Amino acid sequence: MPLASEIDPIPGGRGVADHLPTSPRASAPIIPIRPIGPEHRGLLQQHFLALGPEDRYLRFGYAASDERVRSYVDSIRFDRDEIFGVFNRKLELIAVAHIAVVEADRAEFGVSVLSRARGLGIGTRLFHRAAIFARNRGMHQLYMQCLSSNAAMLKIARRAGMNVRNAGGETEAVLELPEDTLQTHIDAVVEDQTGHVDYWFKSLMRRWRYFRLFGGPA
Ligand SMILES: CC(C)(COP(=O)(O)OP(=O)(O)OC[C@H]1O[C@@H](n2cnc3c(N)ncnc32)[C@H](O)[C@@H]1OP(=O)(O)O)[C@@H](O)C(=O)NCCC(=O)NCCS
Repeated sequence: MPLASEIDPIPGGRGVADHLPTSPRASAPIIPIRPIGPEHRGLLQQHFLALGPEDRYLRFGYAASDERVRSYVDSIRFDRDEIFGVFNRKLELIAVAHIAVVEADRAEFGVSVLSRARGLGIGTRLFHRAAIFARNRGMHQLYMQCLSSNAAMLKIARRAGMNVRNAGGETEAVLELPEDTLQTHIDAVVEDQTGHVDYWFKSLMRRWRYFRLFGGPA
């Protein structure tokens, strides 16, 4: 597991989750989360291909082959859905949330965090970011499906106040979303800006390291 500094949290910050039905630990660090566009399809592919067979099973509900993973990434509708990501200092995508707009007022949440970055609160933060996104889009439900054995995901769901229903080996969870507020829109802007600035800073540092090592641009 990496040091917390590897994902560059900003300690002591107040996050969007404060405005959700239940809030996470007050001392939780801010995780720099940014929206991901089609220009990052390559990195998205790398992220999902880095998941082992068990994690792919947990994430997709089946043991997705490399080919299925690639076609999943190719099929992401960036014009309709939202993707949020967390980058480490090497600009690797260590966590990805996909908020798929399935109906006008309902979105489905899917998430994956690379094993080395787990247990730092990233999954929880991505869920809260997704809920803010869905509220701001006027949606009323955030939906999620996972295996009933997925203890980490169920913890995130229950802690967020999701209505959890176990159906055999699978669990469906629904979060009823309150209306958006001025605060949720401000939160989204602040979160996105934090994510963009963090990314920009990491890119700059990376170029600087290349320059120092090789005397030329990355
Ligand atoms: C589920 C997943 C996204 C969680 O990511 P994460 O960044 O580790 O989540 P968090 O750090 O916010 O942890 C959530 C909680 O689950 C707990 N947890 C983690 N692993 C656990 C386990 N195996 N058993 C019980 N609880 C566990 C954490 O301790 C944490 O609780 P805490 O805040 O009280 O300490 C990550 O494990 C993952 O990517 N799994 C594979 C893909 C997947 O299952 N996706 C979900 C289906 S869409």
